[in-house]
Amino acid sequence: MSAGPSTPEPEIWDPVSAQSHEDPYPAYARLREEYPLYYLRAHHAWALSRYADVRDALRDWESYSSAQGVELGEYVQFFGEGSIQELDPPRHDVVRRVLAARFASRNIKRYEAMVRECAHELLAEMPASESDQSWDIAARFTQRLPMMTIFRLLGIPDQDVPWAIDAGLEMLNRPAGESGPSPAAIASRTELVTYIHDQVMQRRTGGSVIDDVLGDMAIGIESGQMRQQEVEGLTLLLIAAGMETTASLMGNVVHALACDEVRKDELLDVNQEFSMIAMDEFLRFDAPGQWLARVTTRPVVLHGQELPTGSRVLMIFASANRDHREFERPDELVLDRDGSRNLSFGEGVHFCLGMPLARLEAKVGLTEFLKRDPEFVLAGACERYPSHVIRGFSSIPVKRKDAGVRSHT
Ligand code: HEM
Repeated sequence: MSAGPSTPEPEIWDPVSAQSHEDPYPAYARLREEYPLYYLRAHHAWALSRYADVRDALRDWESYSSAQGVELGEYVQFFGEGSIQELDPPRHDVVRRVLAARFASRNIKRYEAMVRECAHELLAEMPASESDQSWDIAARFTQRLPMMTIFRLLGIPDQDVPWAIDAGLEMLNRPAGESGPSPAAIASRTELVTYIHDQVMQRRTGGSVIDDVLGDMAIGIESGQMRQQEVEGLTLLLIAAGMETTASLMGNVVHALACDEVRKDELLDVNQEFSMIAMDEFLRFDAPGQWLARVTTRPVVLHGQELPTGSRVLMIFASANRDHREFERPDELVLDRDGSRNLSFGEGVHFCLGMPLARLEAKVGLTEFLKRDPEFVLAGACERYPSHVIRGFSSIPVKRKDAGVRSHT
């Protein structure tokens, strides 16, 4: 635990406050200008908010460790052994290499048809154009697409995928106001872990190589790169890291459309597909994961203050993305700007392993959605994830434009 600054600072930002949940951006702006290194007294942690500071600290894994968790101090690890997000090099790199080739951009393209198939299946439930039925596009589509995709990639047999999706959603469900996982979430986690271990064992003992993520893990275990116990943390990380983040990105686009903040034609590229430039800008404008933490492994000096070894430092990606030193007019969503330098996928050794997959899912999912010419409006209040890290919608009820009364959150 680190000592705070010698002069007390005003309370500007608390990551677990209702205000931060509602709209953290005014507080981030003050931090960047007045307290680029800010002490979060209630959490005995520091926060970095400027682009260059966040980027440089993320690159310096030797001074900023992930091994004591990447959340606030009171966080208890949920994923278990093998979660590379909470490992430092060299062990981190060895385990990450088990999956690196499959998740690389050049290889992820081959899953495009599979992702499209998943999108079709989910969008088939969308109410027909003449219907006035309300449809929760977050619960039915933007959350389910990443979940369905990752289970297919893992290699879960088709007949078990619907069960696995429900178990995965339950595992990640955090009722509002509760900080820890519910008993139902813990039970789903246990069921999933038992099932996944079994699937990996089948691949280890089956004699033939199976070309899927669990097959990669089986090979990794046989070659000594990872241990069977690490299957748990690595698989749960893949399920969790890819779901709420990708769902938030897609949900933010859908929400902006439903509120008339953007037009459909602005979101499409020359091939009439969802534009990657627009995607980068949505990622810059509202980072799905707002911040993550590191713990210092040696004394570091930041903005004239020495932080001792063991100081927890929050890296606010979302604030870095709004830094005027890096992006002009940072608080405006400018769909044709180059926002690709955003830090929403992190930086350095922990740079998002699933970035190519997330981009594929969002591109295919949003393209297929926009193709259905969705003229719709919000049909009720939207809900945000009750999380202080993830910023996105867990519920976006919509209905066809001419079918009902309009109401905004
Ligand atoms: C828009 C969607 C996504 C966003 C914004 C996002 C964001 C991030 C960020 C910021 C990190 C860095 C964590 C750190 O520095 O501690 C990260 C790591 C990671 N992400 Fe993603 N992610 C997304 C989608 C996905 C998907 C679809 C998957 C896979 C199914 C995935 C798997 C991972 C993994 C395994 C790591 C850990 C990498 C490591 O520690 O080496 N992510 N992600």
